[in-house]
Amino acid sequence: MNKRLQNETIDDQKIMAYQLGKTGIEWANGAGTPSDGMDTNKNNQPICKLTDSAKSIIIYFSRSGSTELLASKIEKETNADVLEITVKKPYSSNYPRTLARANFERENQAYPELNMQLPSLDQYQTIYLGYQIWAMTLSHPMNSFLNTYGNKLSDKKISPFMTEGGYGQGDSVQVIKEILGQQGAVNNTFAPALVVDGNKVDRADKQVSDWIKY
Ligand SMILES: Cc1cc2nc3c(=O)[nH]c(=O)nc-3n(C[C@H](O)[C@H](O)[C@H](O)COP(=O)(O)O)c2cc1C
Repeated sequence: MNKRLQNETIDDQKIMAYQLGKTGIEWANGAGTPSDGMDTNKNNQPICKLTDSAKSIIIYFSRSGSTELLASKIEKETNADVLEITVKKPYSSNYPRTLARANFERENQAYPELNMQLPSLDQYQTIYLGYQIWAMTLSHPMNSFLNTYGNKLSDKKISPFMTEGGYGQGDSVQVIKEILGQQGAVNNTFAPALVVDGNKVDRADKQVSDWIKY
């Protein structure tokens, strides 16, 4: 674990990000990254920081902690509320098993069942949507989230942020737009996406502070 991460928290809970400090063959573009098998929640409650005053909310999913760390940086800059997406059956700590499950889900369009409630979004103008890239597209829990709650996102500014294994954002933003359209969301505006390599999120502070100005 990278020493710089040891005190990183989100809503007072410790973040475990398994790719940090890894480079080259060791990082392998994120392939092989383990997790605690509870989508970063083994010792934590799912993150849910809701206030009466915030005008923006960060809604994210993270399996192995990098997207959660990026979410925490956005939270520190914006003081946004935070809601973690959780699924009924967490992804395995074992990377090959997670990959096999993700491949099956994608081939069968069988996206995971959520284990969360969405609060009213009335007070928010901006929704920061955080996910990771799987097979060059949106990760499946975010796909499920948008397919379940997309119609609640009308009139919001959507600010997508993601971590990936070095191959970029793929078609993920396009897929977000398509699902929102299918779900009947209207009047959305979009900020440019924030894209960070999963092993470099600890060095992304300037990128984050530049991005939140959009
Ligand atoms: C099932 C699976 C598929 C992945 N596919 C890609 C991919 O197509 N392109 C890419 O750049 N990274 C890919 N990755 C790497 C992740 O996007 C990267 O490790 C990310 O930072 C993980 O975020 P997290 O720690 O928040 O879960 C994949 C990871 C997994 C688990």
